[in-house]
Order: sequence, then C-alpha cells, then structure tokens
Amino acid sequence: MDYLKAQSVKSLQGTIDISGAKNASLPLIAMTILANNVVNITNLPQVADIKTLLKLLTNLGATVSFDNGAAIVNTTTLHETKATYDIVKTMRASILVLGPILARFGHCEVSLPGGCAIGQRPIDLHLKALEQMGAHIEIKAGYIEATAPEGLKGCNIIFDKITVTGTANIIMAAALAHGKTVITNAAREPEVVQLCEVLLNSGIPIEGIGTAILTIKGSGGKLINIKEFSIIPDRIEAGTYLCAGAITKSEITLTNVEPKHLGAVLAKLEEMGSRFTTTDTTITIHPSQDIKPVKIVTQEYPAFPTDMQAQFLALATQANGVSIIEERLFENRFMHVSELQRMGADITLNGHTATVNGKTDLSGTDVMATDLRASSALVLAALVSSGETNIHRIYHLDRGYDSLEKKLKGVGAKIERLKE
Ligand code: UD1
Repeated sequence: MDYLKAQSVKSLQGTIDISGAKNASLPLIAMTILANNVVNITNLPQVADIKTLLKLLTNLGATVSFDNGAAIVNTTTLHETKATYDIVKTMRASILVLGPILARFGHCEVSLPGGCAIGQRPIDLHLKALEQMGAHIEIKAGYIEATAPEGLKGCNIIFDKITVTGTANIIMAAALAHGKTVITNAAREPEVVQLCEVLLNSGIPIEGIGTAILTIKGSGGKLINIKEFSIIPDRIEAGTYLCAGAITKSEITLTNVEPKHLGAVLAKLEEMGSRFTTTDTTITIHPSQDIKPVKIVTQEYPAFPTDMQAQFLALATQANGVSIIEERLFENRFMHVSELQRMGADITLNGHTATVNGKTDLSGTDVMATDLRASSALVLAALVSSGETNIHRIYHLDRGYDSLEKKLKGVGAKIERLKE
C-alpha cells in the first residue's frame, strides 16, 4: 500500500493544471450505455474511480480504451445487465449504471452499495423514481433487481431531497423513456448540467438545464448517437489547491479551471482573507497576511459543497479565531477531525457542527486517510505542520485526485509517495 510523506515549506509558488471532474465523468461514462455509437470522451482525470467504472462497463461486455485522459467507449457490444458486488463495493457511484441499463434492456441487477465511511447514503430516492417510471423493483440477496419489460415511461418525479447521482440516474433513464419526464427538485450541480448538455447535444430535448425543474423528452427506447465531449474542470480539485495556497499563504495559479463553478468556495476564501485574480479559465490566489475565521454550512450547489468541508476545516485550524463548520449533507463526515486533533488541532465536535479554535501549531505524525476529501484535508494540514507527516491509506485519495503529489511538488511542496 502507498502512503504520502510530507513536510512543511515556507510557501508554494507556480501553476497547477486542473484535471477533468471525477463527478462529471462518472455519470457521463454511465451515459455511454445509451449510445448506438462508439463514444469519444476527453479530459477525463486519471483516477481510480474512472478506471473502476470503465472496468464495470468492460465486465458488462463493452470495449474500452483509456489513455492520457481520453477514453473510447463502445457499449454497442454490451450484453450483461448485472453490476456485481465486487465492483460496486469499491465505488458507490456504480449505482449510476442502474438507470441507463434498465432503460436500454428492460432489466438490470445492481448490488446494493451498502454503507460508507461518511454516512448511510441510501439510494431509496433513485429506486422510488424508477418505480414511478414503471419499473418493478425488488431487493433480493443484496441486489436490486429492476425490470421494465415494456420500457420506462415518462412521468412527474418530485425528489423529496436533492440527490446528485439520483438526478443523474433519472435523467439517463428519462432520455430513453417513452414520453416526457419532469424532475422537480433536481440537483443543479455543474456535473448534472454537463450530463444534460451532452444529452441535449446528442438530440434529447431537455428544458430547464441548471434549474431545479428538468423536462426531458425520451427517445421511446431508441439508442442515442452521442457526440464527442470533453469533461468540465474539477471544481473540488481546484478548491483543494486554492486551500493549499491559502493555508501556506502562497501565490498559486490554477489553469483549465471554471471560476463560475467555484462561487461559494471563492466567497468563503475571500471571507478568510484570500484575494484572487481570475480569467475565464484561470484563478490566481494571492498570498494573504492573515487567515480569518469563518462560518460554513454545507449545502447543495450553488451553496458551499460538502466535498470542500474537510479541506476548509484543515484551513480553519490556521485561522486566527473561532470557525464554525456545519455539515448538513452527510451524518458522519467528520472522520478527519480526530486525525487533525492528533496533529494538534483544537476542534470540538457537537453533532453536525465542528468548532475550530485557531490558530494552532500543528505537528507532523502518522495519520490515516478515512475518505476521499478527508485525505486531502490531511495533506493540507501536513503542508503547515512541523516535522514529517505520514498519510496512510491514500487509496482513498487516489479514487479522486489526479497526480496530487506530482501537482503539489510542481509548486514546491515537499511531498513524496512511498510504499508501506
Ligand atoms: C454526490 C457526489 C459526492 C457529493 C454528494 C453531495 C458523485 C459521484 N458524488 O454523491 O461527491 O459529496 O453528491 O454533493 O457525484 N440521499 C437519500 N436517498 C437517496 C439519495 C440520497 O436519502 O436515494 C441523501 C444522502 O444520504 C445525502 C443527500 O441525500 O444525505 C445527498 O446525497 P446525494 O446527492 O445523492 O450524494 P451522491 O449523489 O451519492
């Protein structure tokens, strides 16, 4: 198993190129199941989750090549309809194949994803919506068995709660359904927007893109000719490197980024004393004198993302004053707190709220990554800790960060990947 060894540096300087968004890539790769052609995708990040989903498609009978951020996916040969436990257990987002496989074949089995480190993460809303579209769903021996022999039918779906992968699953199901589907309380994340735009470009009429009400006219079971597309920049990767700039009081420029997707993150960093220069595709964070405390509540897009909570918590340990960070989306997403406390952070947890008393001097030690974003929070803390920090279990980090240590080294960080 790999681990990262990091030491603090006075400051970082230089340019970091942002990769394509993992969370946009996953639904878009699943969407290729709806294609009647070979699909070309560019700007994919080189991360484990992408390889996992491509492997799942291969297991189902697709042929796939993936090299240097470009994938060529041929799902016309797809014949299996069962996503087995061995893959689904490694990546919950495998549930994204349920909607498209069911829509295309009229039946699908997907292993139940089970719990996860950050909380229960049920998929009841995905299943309820598919039932509304006419699917018959049973849970048998740990598998979701869904059938819709006559195909899925468009209908009105009102999500009780905003769900990102739930919205994506139903958009894909609706794209091949008979008639019109209206999704109310849809997720508005940029990753969901890109899924809609690619489908629209490929001939599926979708109205309300980027709003909470989506209207999708299905093809009535006909597979779609999907045009080549390039994945949008990863706003969470970008946010993480902005936090690296803020915590080390450095000047870093991010390239190939979409500043419009980072509104809430930039606003909170500004409250904390950071200043930026932006163009259409770059953001430069300038060194700040002083890090100010902050109040954050995680919410659905366009509000502050839960996927940036851990990194801001690490940053708040270096703010002068008391920061309050409330997690509203996942019940157990504070696993990084105990590791940061071991490094010397003064954090009190009360239910869904963390109170961070800064500034504390952090000391490097051995710490354990517990989930994807918790891993990057520990890397950020390591950048300002005395001594050496060894971050173990970084397979979590490799799920979603493309070449993290190489990108950080490129701006002067002292960080290396070693074997346990
Ligand atoms: C996606 C992102 C993840 C991000 C999360 C919230 C991907 C691959 N992952 O995860 O990085 O942290 O959005 O922005 O895009 N819920 C239910 N029932 C359901 C579905 C969800 O109760 O059927 C609840 C969840 O437990 C959670 C909330 O709804 O409390 C939001 O979850 P959801 O948006 O579905 O998260 P994911 O799509 O799994």
